[in-house]
Amino acid sequence: MKPRPVAEVAAAVPASDGAGVRLYRSLGGPNLPLLDPFLLLDEMHSDDADDYIAGFPDHPHRGFETVTIMIQGRMRHEDSVGNVGDLGPGSVQWMTAGKGIVHSEMPQQEAGLLWGFQMWVNLPAAKKMMPPRYQDIAAHRVPEVTVAEGAGCVRVLAGSVLDAHGPVEGIATDPLLLDVRLDAGAQVELPVEPSHQVFAYVFEGEGEFGDLSNGGATSGGARQAVVFGEGDGVCVRGGDSGVRFLLAAARPLGEPIARYGPFVMNTREELLQAFRDYESGRLTD
Ligand code: CO
Repeated sequence: MKPRPVAEVAAAVPASDGAGVRLYRSLGGPNLPLLDPFLLLDEMHSDDADDYIAGFPDHPHRGFETVTIMIQGRMRHEDSVGNVGDLGPGSVQWMTAGKGIVHSEMPQQEAGLLWGFQMWVNLPAAKKMMPPRYQDIAAHRVPEVTVAEGAGCVRVLAGSVLDAHGPVEGIATDPLLLDVRLDAGAQVELPVEPSHQVFAYVFEGEGEFGDLSNGGATSGGARQAVVFGEGDGVCVRGGDSGVRFLLAAARPLGEPIARYGPFVMNTREELLQAFRDYESGRLTD
């Protein structure tokens, strides 16, 4: 396996979205505007309800996919198509907005803490106007693989790795999405598709990433995105207090992007059409 070197480490920046939810934005923020096909990654992490309780009331999406990953606390959601759900700790929702949905996402704390992520993944031009699709995956459906002789654990949310298959399926960009925990000094090698874009987002502790055996390690700590260069694997070692991170890989689209707010299309005309459709109530027709 040729370990991917670290190409870039980008810190998340504090931001606010929805009705005033405080979050940390890595992808889609000033330090990492785009990582085709990944468009955005926000971390919500707070024990103060004022930071998030206003939530994300009714808002539209068109032309891409939103992925919600819960670590602690819950996310209640409801949409224009009639879907209702309540995402609990350890769950994931992969929502393909396609031609359009209007939904609300309302965070709720549990044991005093809300901790989760929202990631946006682009759709290819040919799928941007597909019917919306939801995959709500409860925590118990996410396979967990023990690694590093018990000193680590890989939860497979999407894609296949280490003989485990994630429950999210049928996604256009063929993604791999993992929640990886390593104790101090524990090491793991994870194969990834050579043609895919790959990044890690550290949300606890610190780790060493890159070509560990050849002195090519780069540190990545909490609230940092680690972007990888070329290779067919990702090597990581847990730092002094261990590390926990999301690892995401997917096929880049290489298509033009016209993006504003909740709409991600290929051309300015398609973007304007999305706004016209939303204003006239036809987004979800
Ligand atoms: Co949304």
